[in-house]
Amino acid sequence: MNHQNTTRPFLWGAASAAYQVEGGWRADGRGLSKWDVFTNGERITEKVVGAHHTGNVAINTYDPVQYRNDIALMRDLGLNAYRFSLSWPRILPDGTGAVNTAGLDYYRRFVDDLLAAGIAPIATLYHWDFPAGLFDRGGWHNRDSIDWFRDYAAVVFEALGDRVDTFVTLNEPFIDLFLMDLIAENARSGEREPFAFTSEQYGRQAPGMHNLLLANAAAVGEFRRQGLSGMVGIALPLYPMIPIDGEDAGDIAAAAQLDGVINRWPLDAVLKGTVPDDVVATLGAHNPAFAIPEADRALIAANSVDFIGVNYYAPMFVETDESGPLGMAAGANPDEVKAFNGPVRPEALHGLLLRLRDDYGNPPVIITENGAGFGDIDEVHDGDAIHDPLRTDYLRRHIDAVLKAKAEGADVRGYLVWSLFDNFEWIQGYTRRFGMVHVDFETQTRTPKDSYAFYRDLIAAQP
Ligand code: FCB
Repeated sequence: MNHQNTTRPFLWGAASAAYQVEGGWRADGRGLSKWDVFTNGERITEKVVGAHHTGNVAINTYDPVQYRNDIALMRDLGLNAYRFSLSWPRILPDGTGAVNTAGLDYYRRFVDDLLAAGIAPIATLYHWDFPAGLFDRGGWHNRDSIDWFRDYAAVVFEALGDRVDTFVTLNEPFIDLFLMDLIAENARSGEREPFAFTSEQYGRQAPGMHNLLLANAAAVGEFRRQGLSGMVGIALPLYPMIPIDGEDAGDIAAAAQLDGVINRWPLDAVLKGTVPDDVVATLGAHNPAFAIPEADRALIAANSVDFIGVNYYAPMFVETDESGPLGMAAGANPDEVKAFNGPVRPEALHGLLLRLRDDYGNPPVIITENGAGFGDIDEVHDGDAIHDPLRTDYLRRHIDAVLKAKAEGADVRGYLVWSLFDNFEWIQGYTRRFGMVHVDFETQTRTPKDSYAFYRDLIAAQP
C-alpha cells in the first residue's frame, strides 16, 4: 500500500456523481449509459415515485458557467476537496474503443478550475453510469467487463493522473448491482414490487459483484503500472448490522450473514486481498454456478487499494424473514423522524471506523459520503433562508463520531458530505433532497441552507 500523503491536511469536502449533476446528456459526443435508458426509455422513476424524471439536465454542471459559479460556492464554504465522478460514456461513447476528446477536455478543465480554487479533486471512475451498449452485452455479468473497465481506467489515468492525486475506482458495487439493477429489473418486468428482491436474484448478481471486484483489482493494477504517485481506492457502502432482537439466534445469524455479503466480502477483497468462502457459499446456495477460480484470487491478492472510501449513512436492523432474499429483511427503521437512508446512528459510524482500525490493519480512510435528507419537514423556506435543522444535526453528530474515531487512532484522512447540492437521486428522481445547498430544478438557482452555514463555520474553526 502507498501510505504517502500522510502530511496532507485533513480533507473537508463534499461528494457528487456525474449522472446526478451534469446533465448535458447528448452534448459533445457523449454516449448513453444504462441510466439514460432506465430514465428516458424505461421511465424508472415513474414506477418508483410516480413522476417521470431523468438526469438529462440534472443540475447542469456540464455547463462551465454553472460549474464555475458552483466552485465559487465551494470556496466560500471552505472546502479543500471535492469528489465527483467521470461519465464513462462521455469519455468513451461506446464504452470501449474511440476516445471522445471533448469529454476528456471537460474533465481536464473542471479539474484545473478546482485546483485553481485550492480544492483537491477526488475523481471516481465509475458511479453507476455503465455504457448502455456494454450493459446490453451483460454489463458486469460479462467477464469482458474487467478489461473494458481497465482500459477505460487507463485512458483516465493517462489524461488526469498528472493533476488528480486521489482516484476512486468504483462507487458502491453492492448498491449498483443488488439494489439499482434489481429495482430496474423488477420495474421492467412488473412481476413484483420494485424493492421485492428474491434469493434467486441475489444468487444471480453474485458473479457480477465478483467481476466488479476483479475490475477494481485490474484498475488498481493499471494505476500501479503507470507509476502514478497518488492514491487509488474504492468507495464501499458500509452498513453496520444490528440484529433486531439481540437475544434471537436467528436474527443474530441473519445480521452476521448480511454483514458478510455487504461489508466483509468487498473489504476482505480490497484490503486483505482475500475472498471470504463463507460468503461465496451463502450466495452459491442460490446460484450453483458461482465459484471463484484460483487465478481470480491471485488478481485480487496482488492489487489491494491505498485507501478505503467509506460511504456511510445508517446501520441496518436485520431479522429473519422467509420472504426476503437470503431469508432476511433489513428495512426496519425505528426512528420517529425517518431519514431517507435509514436510522440515524452516528455511534455506528464510530464503531465501523474502529472495526477498520482493528480488523483491517488501520488503512487510510476517507469518508467518501455521509449525509441525510428528511423531506419537507427539513426544508423550511423562510424568506431567503432555508432551515434544515435535522440535516445540520445529522452532520454535526456524524462529524463528531468521525473525529472521535480519529482521536482513537483510526487513520481517517477526510470527510466528504453527500451532497453539496440537491440533485438527481436515482430511482427517486428529484423527490429526495440531500444538499447543503438548495437547487430550484426549474431555474437552477442555488440557495444555501442552514447546514451550509454550519459546515462553513465548522471548517473555519479547524486548527
Ligand atoms: C449513495 C450513492 C449516492 C447518493 C446517496 C444518497 O448510495 O452513492 O450517489 O445517491 O446514496
